[in-house]
Amino acid sequence: MSKKNKKFLITGGTGFVGSNICHLLIKLGYQITIFDNNTRGDLKRLSSIKKQVKFVKGDIRNYYQLNKVLKNIDTVIHLAYINGTKYFYSKPVDVLDVAIKGNLNIFEGCINHKIKELYIASSSEVYQTPNKIPTNENEPLKIPDIFNPRYSYGGGKILSELMGVHYGKKFFKKLIIFRPHNVYGPNMGNEHVIPEFISRLKKINKKNKKFVIQGSGKEIRSFIFIDDFIQAFELLLKKGKHLNIYNIGTEEKISIKALALKIAKLKNKKINLKHTNLREGSTKIRCPDTGKIKNLGFKQKYNLDSGINKIIKNN
Ligand SMILES: NC(=O)c1ccc[n+]([C@@H]2O[C@H](COP(=O)([O-])OP(=O)(O)OC[C@H]3O[C@@H](n4cnc5c(N)ncnc54)[C@H](O)[C@@H]3O)[C@@H](O)[C@H]2O)c1
Repeated sequence: MSKKNKKFLITGGTGFVGSNICHLLIKLGYQITIFDNNTRGDLKRLSSIKKQVKFVKGDIRNYYQLNKVLKNIDTVIHLAYINGTKYFYSKPVDVLDVAIKGNLNIFEGCINHKIKELYIASSSEVYQTPNKIPTNENEPLKIPDIFNPRYSYGGGKILSELMGVHYGKKFFKKLIIFRPHNVYGPNMGNEHVIPEFISRLKKINKKNKKFVIQGSGKEIRSFIFIDDFIQAFELLLKKGKHLNIYNIGTEEKISIKALALKIAKLKNKKINLKHTNLREGSTKIRCPDTGKIKNLGFKQKYNLDSGINKIIKNN
C-alpha cells in the first residue's frame, strides 16, 4: 500500500499530543481522520492543516459513532482519555468509564473492520512507586491504593495495556504501547506544571513574590519537549515492534522547586517559594529509562531551558 493510501484514525486528535501527531502524519503524507469529543481538544491546534484532515466529533464510549469512523481505516492511534491530574481526583468514575468502555470499543471496532495496526498511549503513571530509577519497561505496574481516586487514571492505563497485549496477540499484526513521561510544549493548556508555572509567574511582581508549589518541592520529575516526543513517535511508526512497550521521555531529572526557580529565572522574576501538602498518591520521583527508545535512534534535542524558552516565546 502506498503512503498516500494509508489511512489513520487518531482518537484524541485535537488534544495536545494528538494534534502534534496529526501534524507529523500529514507531513509524512498520510490520510487522517480525527475522532474527539473536544472536552479538552481544540480544533485551533489543527488550523494550519484543517483542509487536509477529516474531523468527526464523537465519544469513544459510543460504539455506534466509533464503529462508523473506523470503516476503511488501516491504523488507529488511540489517545483519547481524561487527562489532567485534578480530574483523576474529582471524576474517577468518568476516567474509568472512558478507559473501560472506550478501550473495549476500540478493540471491538478494530476487530470488526479487520484493522491490524494499533498504537496505544499509556502513561508513566502505570509505574506509580517504581523499584528502580530510572525505570525501564519491565517494571511491575501497580495500583498502590485501590481507594485513592488518583489511581483511576493509572489503573485505566494498566487495563488498556493488559487488553492491548492480549488482544494484540490474537487479533493484530502491529500493536505498540507507549508510555509518555511528562510531555510539555506550546498550546498544551495551563493545567500542566510547566505552562501553569509560566502563567502564574505573569502575576509576580516586586510587591507580590509569593509562589506556591504543591508538595515539598523535592519531588523529582523528568520532562520531554513535544518536538522530541514527536521524533520518538515517528521512530515507533517506522521501527516499533509488534507487542512492544516503549517509554517516551528523557532522563533529565529536576526537582519541582528547581523547576520553579528555573522558569522564574528564564522569565527574569524573583520568587519566594511557599509549599502546600502533596496530594495523596502523587509520586516522589519519576524518571524513565530511555534505553529502548534510544536503541531505535532517539536523540533528545531540547533540554529544559530550550524547551521552556520555546513556550515563553510562544506565549
Ligand atoms: N501529555 C503528557 O504528558 C502525557 C503523559 C502520559 C500519558 N499521556 C497520554 O497521552 C494521551 C494524550 O494526552 P494529551 O496530553 O494530549 O491530553 P489531552 O487532554 O490534551 O488530549 C486528550 C484528548 O482526548 C479527548 N477525549 C477525552 N475523552 C474522550 C472521549 N470519551 N471520547 C473522545 N475523545 C475524548 C479530549 O477532548 C482531548 O482532546 C492521553 O491518552 C494521555 O493519557 C500524556
